[in-house]
Amino acid sequence: MVNKVQEYGNTVLTQSLPNQIPNLLESKPVLQIWGKQPLQGQVRISGAKNSALVLMTGALLASEPCRLHNVPALADIKSMGDILSALGVKLSLDGNTLDIDARHISETQAPYELVSQLRASFFALGPLLARTGVAQMPLPGGCAIGARPVELHVRGLQQMGADIYIEHGVVRAHARRLKGAKIYLDYPSVGATETLMMAATLADGTTTIKNAAQEPEVEDLANFCRALGANIFGAGTNTITIEGVSKLHGADYRIIPDRIEAGTFLVAGAITRSEIQIAPVVPEHLIPVIAKLREIGVQVVADAPDCLRVLPAPMYRGADIETRPHPGFPTDMQALFMTLLTISEGNSVISETVFENRLGHVPELLRMGADIRIKGNHAFIQGVPQLSGAPVTGTDLRASAALVVAALAAEGKTTIQGLQHLDRGYDGIEHKLLKLGAQIERIVPEIPTDIGIPLPL
Ligand code: EPZ
Repeated sequence: MVNKVQEYGNTVLTQSLPNQIPNLLESKPVLQIWGKQPLQGQVRISGAKNSALVLMTGALLASEPCRLHNVPALADIKSMGDILSALGVKLSLDGNTLDIDARHISETQAPYELVSQLRASFFALGPLLARTGVAQMPLPGGCAIGARPVELHVRGLQQMGADIYIEHGVVRAHARRLKGAKIYLDYPSVGATETLMMAATLADGTTTIKNAAQEPEVEDLANFCRALGANIFGAGTNTITIEGVSKLHGADYRIIPDRIEAGTFLVAGAITRSEIQIAPVVPEHLIPVIAKLREIGVQVVADAPDCLRVLPAPMYRGADIETRPHPGFPTDMQALFMTLLTISEGNSVISETVFENRLGHVPELLRMGADIRIKGNHAFIQGVPQLSGAPVTGTDLRASAALVVAALAAEGKTTIQGLQHLDRGYDGIEHKLLKLGAQIERIVPEIPTDIGIPLPL
């Protein structure tokens, strides 16, 4: 079947108007899941969201068109496409292949109403400034999991000679040409590392970034930039060196598989005590996740270099988790593992050290019968024999995924609201789960005609 080619541009912009004031009577779709269905078969993992998004901003560096393969079909990808087209970039999506033509950048400020919906769009600041000498990016603001400041991005660009000031909530940056600099990041921020690495590819001279983020998505971005003709060394370690060049050409590049989606399905197999295969994956991207699963008692075996199989066990043991920058345990997997630990024997402690407010899934898991106490950014979990289905609401992307996984294991029916979060980061999750044998459906509940307010006789 020929995929519908989705053109970004005005039509899409009009479609992606800011969220309308929620119509209280408007009924939003929900997921209904009947738990305790064993899963079987193989699930296909999509391209990595956190790689695709930053590679899209990286295409701003190129003076020739680029083509990205294995782009996941996600709301965030569409939002990023809207933002780039607002800058004058031409995009064309055909299935999972995205053509990006940034030869003619006509705008240097992305619209606030789009940036506020997608924090990752702030990553465009560095490449836009490096390519055009001017960039104006609304401050993205916080989100459910934290304040999400960006001072490390700004400070690093200033060290590269950018003249930056913040006015009316917009970061305004100018630089005739950025200069190579020696940068030390106070914290190994993924976004700051990516912003500065991209900016440095077109700077005059050599840039080193010390205490750089080592996430696989940073390495994927470096490989993409190298495909454009950039000179980058050390990506994936805590010290990255970039020798600036004057111009970058186009590239045809395939995005890595999504390690967090892969981890999500590993946990789904474990918690439903099912044997399922997950592919394609890059096993070394999942080392902390696989190690923790094995500590809990879940068997994970490699059926092929890019295929993992999860084998259930009759009993899971509690474990302690502390989220850390890569290669530590990934914060994006914290909510998913908390769900697994709620039905593991004994006590577990989870410490969320990366984001200040990423325990929003706990109240919802409590509604499903979990035994969890929060003290600061620590969650103390006492394993229970069984979760029970309930109406719950997702508060952020990974919290919503954790509720889906909890529902798969729970006794009875669970109804999950807040799907706008889930759709940002999971490409067709209910179709993939249906294919594995889960009892799941997305419905739009009837609007109750009697809205429960007694009318005067
Ligand atoms: C990226 O966010 C990911 N998003 C996040 O994934 C992921 O959780 C995070 O990295 C950590 O791995 C994308 O790649 C689009 P950070 P990012 O800068 O770059 C603080 C998901 O669910 N910080 O490494 O924003 C910050 O407040 C999402 O897919 C500063 O203080 O993360 C946070 O506490 C969620 N100042 C910590 O660093 C700064 O200038 C880690 O943030 C920048 C960050």
